[in-house]
Amino acid sequence: MTGSLTIRRPDDWHLHVRDGAILDAVVPHTARQFARAIIMPNLVPPATTTELITAYRDRIVAAIPAGADFTPLMTAYLTDKTDPDDLAAGHEAGVITAAKLYPAGATTNSDSGVTDIAAIMPVLRRMAEIGMPLLVHGEVTDAEIDIFDREAVFIERTLKPLMDRLPDLKIVLEHITTAEAAETVRQGGETLAATITPHHLMINRTDIFRGGIRPHLYCLPIAKREIHRLAIRALATSGHPRVFLGTDSAPHPIGAKESSCGCAGIFSAPTAVELYAQVFEEDNALDRLESFASLNGPAFYGLPVNQATVTLYREETVVPDEISIDEATRIRPFRSGETLAWRLR
Ligand code: DOR
Ligand code: ZN
Repeated sequence: MTGSLTIRRPDDWHLHVRDGAILDAVVPHTARQFARAIIMPNLVPPATTTELITAYRDRIVAAIPAGADFTPLMTAYLTDKTDPDDLAAGHEAGVITAAKLYPAGATTNSDSGVTDIAAIMPVLRRMAEIGMPLLVHGEVTDAEIDIFDREAVFIERTLKPLMDRLPDLKIVLEHITTAEAAETVRQGGETLAATITPHHLMINRTDIFRGGIRPHLYCLPIAKREIHRLAIRALATSGHPRVFLGTDSAPHPIGAKESSCGCAGIFSAPTAVELYAQVFEEDNALDRLESFASLNGPAFYGLPVNQATVTLYREETVVPDEISIDEATRIRPFRSGETLAWRLR
């Protein structure tokens, strides 16, 4: 049995760090685990312009512990009113790495998102021209579509027509949860990639209701049937070059999760790499962890791979019960209190 595993330092290609006290508390966890992270812009109000995104980046940088080597890669929140010139200028200046498409109403803080993709075609065309990736929350928002079908319907209704229309646009289908998404990525060409979260590799929809309702396992896209979990797991561990690590770690105070209308989001930052290592080991694919965690993302984004390495040791790690933000606010991590097989040191 392998006792340790050394890989190039990984990156998190999908992360929420929020703002204020939560930001200060969660950034050190990610900076310990990852060299870079793609930061989601769904703040209130959202990070929509180069000016707002620059200020947000500065707040994140201020929260990085002294001596840590961590770079936040910023994204712009697309709205019906996004100015293509501002977006292109921010990209050119190195401030904005990618842009995020939230269909309006699809998830947490997405009310200012895009109501109709036709409204942002000039923006998307410009992004295709300058090679700026589009990151997609791939769910339709129509109330009549069953919540478990929203990703599969989005792929047919929105993603495939968009790919046909703008074949040069680089698209990352984020946090995929279905066999349909896995198949679309396998069939897709050079310009289509996907991220996969640790929780979607580990839980199915039945787990959300195991022995009672488990609000800390509620996220969007919601976990699907076991066959879907197995399909995305097979893709993640297959070594596919355009599939990579994106935790979607999304902290919410415990009170906002354990509520009569609880927020969507699972916080996995403290032990993200250990969680992925466990999945890859269970599927006899530890030799493919490095490409998923450290190589495929930079290749798709056209960025250099990290030179530093990290080592995972086969050592039991107990996931903390909670992370304290301030006297009144705590956040519960994914798998809190459980023991994982690996430790990143
Ligand atoms: O579960 C989720 N939480 N899914 C998202 O798309 C957003 C995220 C959040 O911001 O809390
Ligand atoms: Zn997210």
